[in-house]
Amino acid sequence: MAQDYVWYDGIAFPVVDYKPEILKAAHEKFVVKDEDIMLVSYPKSGTHWLIEIISLIHTKGDPKWVRSVNTYDRSPWIETESGNTTIVNRKEGPPLISSHLPIQLFPKSFFTSKAKLIYVIRNPKDVLISGYYFWSSTNLAKKPESLEQYFEWFLRGHVPYGSWFDHVRGWLSLREKENVLVLCYEEMRKDPRKSIEKICQFLGKALEPGELNLVLENSSFQAMKENKMSNCNSLPEELIPKDVKITRKGITGDWKNHFTPAQTQAFEETFREKMAGLPPELFPWD
Ligand code: A3P
Repeated sequence: MAQDYVWYDGIAFPVVDYKPEILKAAHEKFVVKDEDIMLVSYPKSGTHWLIEIISLIHTKGDPKWVRSVNTYDRSPWIETESGNTTIVNRKEGPPLISSHLPIQLFPKSFFTSKAKLIYVIRNPKDVLISGYYFWSSTNLAKKPESLEQYFEWFLRGHVPYGSWFDHVRGWLSLREKENVLVLCYEEMRKDPRKSIEKICQFLGKALEPGELNLVLENSSFQAMKENKMSNCNSLPEELIPKDVKITRKGITGDWKNHFTPAQTQAFEETFREKMAGLPPELFPWD
């Protein structure tokens, strides 16, 4: 890889499909429409799962669409070159747009629009572990040589999309807005039906009980693991080896299998310092 990261406004981005001029255009020129549905997260927080759920809500649980069109075409990333092009040329389908951008780089036009935005958060210790496996087994960005090394990078924010702490703090500042819904991966795992109902209510979509069951079934971890369209299959093998899947483990608390006691302590100190002043109920995990 010629470069480890693409840097823009002090934030590191993967090298494949990212360009400063596209990031700048996404921030300054992209026009968000009132009917758009923006799905936003820090990477490895459950983004693909959220996209699967929303896609299935759109089809009332029918899996045909999610099994025939890949995630990146159903809900393109606004900040990637390919995603941006797909959105601009899109003629049909629901107006779904994904993004991992931190709030300060998000399209300015969103903040004066009525577009709905869902932000999903996840225990950052699990985000760290999930990210370590993903970035070290793909050729999309700088590869960590060890978990110890990635742990250091993560606490400093020298990982794709920058600091988790800044990202989450930034986006949570919008949590009281009517057009913003904050979801939590751990709550989605605990009670996926309730999370789907919450999303339907937020989007103003009514599903029959049988349709809701289908959404639940077709967005389960197992169903997604078996669905090639939900596991970055559209990217070349030299970038993402075929055995690397978005659906790795899909559990909560995997960090406990990896962190040393010293890492746990260091992580918790950083968390307390960086997230000071935010209500603890926003972070319902252990
Ligand atoms: P793990 O690596 O911990 O398994 P993102 O989509 O933001 O990249 O997040 C990927 C994480 O979401 C992975 O976590 C993946 O397993 C998990 N995930 C994807 N689909 C899921 C599902 N249907 N249920 C539970 N977790 C899921």
